[in-house]
Amino acid sequence: MLTPEGAHATNAMNPANATASPVDRAALQGGRRRLIFVTNRGPVEYTFGADGTAQPQAGAGGVVSGLLSAARERPVSWISVAMTDADRAVAKSLDGATLAMPHELSYLAPRLVYLPEATYRQYYDGISNRLLWFAQHGLPHADIARSPQTRAAWAGYVAANRALAETVIAELDTCETAPPVMFHDYHLYLAPAMVRERVPEARLAHFVHIPWPSVERWADVPEEMVRAIYRGLAAVDVLGFQTARDVHNFLDGAAHFLPGVFISRDPDELRWRGRRTLVRAYPIAVTPLEVCAAADTPAARGQLRPLRERLGLDLGRKLIVRVDRVEPTKNIVRGFAAYEQLLAAHAEWHGRVVFLALLVPSRESVGEYQAYAEDVERSIARVNARFGDDGWQPIVALYGNDRGRALACMRDYDVLLVNSLADGMNLVVKEGGLVNRRDGVIVLSDRAGAYAQLHRGVLGVRPTDIEATAGALVRALEMSSEERRLRAQQVRDVLEREDASTWLGRQLADLMRVTGFPTMSAPFAPNALSHADLDPPRASYLVPDALAARGATKLAFGAAGPAIRLSRSPRETIPLDDVTFPTGSDVGDLDSASMG
Ligand code: F6P
Repeated sequence: MLTPEGAHATNAMNPANATASPVDRAALQGGRRRLIFVTNRGPVEYTFGADGTAQPQAGAGGVVSGLLSAARERPVSWISVAMTDADRAVAKSLDGATLAMPHELSYLAPRLVYLPEATYRQYYDGISNRLLWFAQHGLPHADIARSPQTRAAWAGYVAANRALAETVIAELDTCETAPPVMFHDYHLYLAPAMVRERVPEARLAHFVHIPWPSVERWADVPEEMVRAIYRGLAAVDVLGFQTARDVHNFLDGAAHFLPGVFISRDPDELRWRGRRTLVRAYPIAVTPLEVCAAADTPAARGQLRPLRERLGLDLGRKLIVRVDRVEPTKNIVRGFAAYEQLLAAHAEWHGRVVFLALLVPSRESVGEYQAYAEDVERSIARVNARFGDDGWQPIVALYGNDRGRALACMRDYDVLLVNSLADGMNLVVKEGGLVNRRDGVIVLSDRAGAYAQLHRGVLGVRPTDIEATAGALVRALEMSSEERRLRAQQVRDVLEREDASTWLGRQLADLMRVTGFPTMSAPFAPNALSHADLDPPRASYLVPDALAARGATKLAFGAAGPAIRLSRSPRETIPLDDVTFPTGSDVGDLDSASMG
């Protein structure tokens, strides 16, 4: 199994075997430690082409693009679930082997985990996207929770988590050192404990992308399920949430659902059954340069041009935009109802404003989502029939998952409407705030995680209040250019300081800090820095407790990157290649670390 980091590499890191997988080669070349991501949706998805062969395409969705941008070409073993028929066919034929990747993505080693379709449906539809999605977003779910199908579906959720955990364990078995393993989201609450049981020394983190409810709001979910979820998450070393409120709710719930737990605050952590879990908020971020570049590709701009004509923007019409997956938490129907109120009360806006809704079909195999998609279509048809005429269609809805088109359209909004009933963070608002070039106004739900960060620049609304939302839309449309400019700048000021790789790096830095550095037991890591690399050391030092306990005196920021220096001999330095630190400045704590 795993040996202390720094022990002589004999297998994956052995140059003789370096051609075995692209990840190992990249790790050797870049000298950067491999990560293991575990997600439901992965970086590659397959569909059957006309000739019946499985055709790969880039995985859709915010988590995938966010993690790719955060990892920044670092070697990643990425374990995800086979979601489509074609995925399943590929997963079966590969039997656990990694997917072949094109050269530009050769730093990724993705594995698709096969689940029988019935198991997948129970896990993805039944528990993840009906029960947990509804419960965690505060949507009614008592009937779902009580239904015999949901109880039966739990077995599928357990089995899927087991299958993912087994794949992680097999992957760890091939590793000479303990790479960070990061689980993501509500599909995978149980897998960490399954891995921990078999690999006690594994370094495990989990990031929950969606809101964490208070204890009372878990009341409708069968208690044995909630307890199992808490036990699963208490097995990680670092547990991340989007906001401080989620952290608070999780720790309150831990006192209730984990008998014998000890909870301490500041830093927030729980101790349970001899283990310690750091629980922290790491608000997810996007990378400004990457987002702005994606909005400005020739392909994206090419889509925008004819659309501008169709929407009548060149005639001076104002543009309201929304970009959402079609599902009930996004509150799309109430958004259109607010727009309808606006048009009913303000005839002067008829023909002078248009609402572009970029809608991504989502989870269509689940009844509640289908019904909601029909409600959305009906409300669009109603508003268009009530107010539209030959020269003006008040709502233009475009369906499909096209991130480039969405980003390009957000460059031109006058108003961006994000009125989710609940939202872990909401990345649309972050992307929109960065790419918009018209000082557009953001109308933002106060229930979205992003509100805590952006409230100074946006117009906040309570998402259930249609009248208030209509009022905010009018205010946004009529706002003076000076106020628009100030608000848009306030939003950009927040967003431009963020970066996806810093978001990931903070979690990795915490993970390395709390798990300690097993390298300390090895006299020389194979790729240890020489004394000369650190002489004279360029910058600051700090002594995390975990390092000090193992005899380290300093974390040094040398010319060749950060390294641990042991007290025993100046030559015993070990590169800390997971994080980079600002060189030449004092570093107060590991929060300032970012991915290398
Ligand atoms: O935030 C929840 C989430 O998992 C996102 O992370 C992701 O972008 C979205 O839901 C997509 O869901 P699905 O993979 O079911 O389409």
